[in-house]
Amino acid sequence: MTRLTENQSKNTTSLPDGPQSPGFLQIIQKIFYYLEYLDAARERYGDIFTMRSPGFPPTVILSDPQAIQEVFTADLSLFDTGTKILQPLLGEYSLIQLDGLPHQRRRKLLMPPFHGERMRTYAELICDITEQVMSQWTLGKPFCVRSSMQEITLRVILRAVFGIDQGERFEQLRQLLGSWLDSFNSPLRSSFLLVKFLQKDLGAWSPWGRFLRQKQQIDALLIAEIRERQTQPNSSREDILSLMISARDEEGQPMAEEELRDDLMTLLFAGHETTASALAWAFYWIHHLPEVREKLMSELDTLSPDLDPSAIAKLPYLNAVCSETLRIYPVALFSFSRTVKSPLELMGYQLEPGTVLAPCIYLTHQNASIYPEPKRFKPERFLERQFSPYEYLPFGGGNRRCLGSALALFEMKLVLATVLSRANLVLADKRPVRSVRRGFTFTPSDGVRMVMTGSR
Ligand code: HEM
Repeated sequence: MTRLTENQSKNTTSLPDGPQSPGFLQIIQKIFYYLEYLDAARERYGDIFTMRSPGFPPTVILSDPQAIQEVFTADLSLFDTGTKILQPLLGEYSLIQLDGLPHQRRRKLLMPPFHGERMRTYAELICDITEQVMSQWTLGKPFCVRSSMQEITLRVILRAVFGIDQGERFEQLRQLLGSWLDSFNSPLRSSFLLVKFLQKDLGAWSPWGRFLRQKQQIDALLIAEIRERQTQPNSSREDILSLMISARDEEGQPMAEEELRDDLMTLLFAGHETTASALAWAFYWIHHLPEVREKLMSELDTLSPDLDPSAIAKLPYLNAVCSETLRIYPVALFSFSRTVKSPLELMGYQLEPGTVLAPCIYLTHQNASIYPEPKRFKPERFLERQFSPYEYLPFGGGNRRCLGSALALFEMKLVLATVLSRANLVLADKRPVRSVRRGFTFTPSDGVRMVMTGSR
C-alpha cells in the first residue's frame, strides 16, 4: 500500500466495480440475505468490489489475502479505525470508538486478563457453569442450544469482568442483558439497529424506545457497581473491573466513569453473544455429520475422566472442529472497517480520503482457492495445512484484532468437551440451518434445537 502525494492523487481516483442495486433493495438484502448477496457480488466482481449505499461513503469489500494483509499491517496513521455503528449498543466512550494512541493504550489495559495464565484460571468456572446449565436439560425434551450457550457464556464473562456473578444486582444485570439482546434476535428485529430512520423513541412500547430504556437500566446497574467498587477499594481483587478502576494514564488520571461503564458494556456484549453463536454452530455440525462426531468422540475418549482443561485445549481434532466452525459461517462477517485518511493506492486502485475499506471475513473464508469445497464442513483442512492470518481471520486482525480470541477458543473447547463427555445429544429437527442476522452478528437460524437422549 502506498500513500499518494497530492499531485499523484489528482484526477486518478479509481474504485473497483461493484453491485448497483437500489438503496431499498440493498437494505433488504443486507438484513435478510447478506451472505447470498456477498456470494453473488464476489462471483460477479471478484475479490475486491465496491458497495455503494445511499447516504454512506463507498465501501470497498476486500477478500483477497494480499489486500487484507496490506490493510492489517499498514501504518496506523493511514486510517481511521474507530467504528460509530455500535454506538447505540456500547455507548460513545467504548474502546471500539477510539482510534490511534488512546485506542492502543486502552487495549493494553484490557488485554492481560484475557491471555495466558490469567485466562486458564477461568477453566474450572467454565466447566462448572456448563454442568449447571446442562442440569436444566430434560431427557427427551427439545431445547434451544444457542440459549443454553448464551447462559453459559454470559455467566462466564460476568464472572471474569466483575469477579462475582451472584447477588441481586447480577441477577438483574443477567436478565436485563438477556432480554435486551433478544430485542434483535431475528433479522427483522435487527433492522432498527441498521436503519437510522427506524431509530425513533415513540415511547416504552416502541421497539427503539424499549431498547433505549433497557439500555439505560443496564447502564444504571453498571454505574452502581462501579461506584460501589470505587468507594470500597480492595487491592486483592484481580477481576477486570478492579484492574480498570486502579489503572492510571500517563498523567496519573483514572478512567472516567463513562469510560468504565462503556468498556464494561463492550466486554459483556462482545464477550458472550459471539461465543454463544459459535458454540451453537459447533453443536450443529458435530451432530449433523456423524463422521465428525465419531472422530471427535474417539479423541475425547483419550482424556482422563477428570477432563483436564489443558489437555482439552491441546486436542488437535477438537481444535480443527472449532476452527472450521468459525471458518464456514463466521459470527462476524467483517472485521471493523478502516476509513482512508489521505489518498493512497491499494492493489492498483487510487483511493480518496473518506473511502471505507472492509476486510470481509466471510468471503475470504469462502475462497475456493484457499479452501477447496468451501461450503463443506471439513475440519481436516486445519490438520492438513496452516493458514496465514490474512486467509483465516475469524477474529479480524491488525490493531483491532479481537481482544477475547484466546478466551473464546478456550471456552468453546471446554464447553464442547464437557457436554459431549457427559451427555448424548441429537438434533431435534432435520431442517437445514442457515446463518442469519442477529443484530450485528450472525447466528444459526432457530438457534439449533437439540434433544438430550441420555447421559454418558
Ligand atoms: C467466537 C467468539 C468471538 C468472535 C468470532 C469474535 C470476533 C471479533 C471480531 C471479528 C472483531 C473485530 C476485529 C477487527 O476489526 O479486526 C472483534 C473485536 C473485539 N472482540 Fe471479539 N470475538 C469473539 C469473542 C470475544 C470475547 C470472548 C471477547 C471478550 C473480551 C471479545 C472482545 C472483543 C473486543 C473488546 C473487540 C474490540 C477490539 C478493538 O476494538 O480493539 N470478543 N471480535
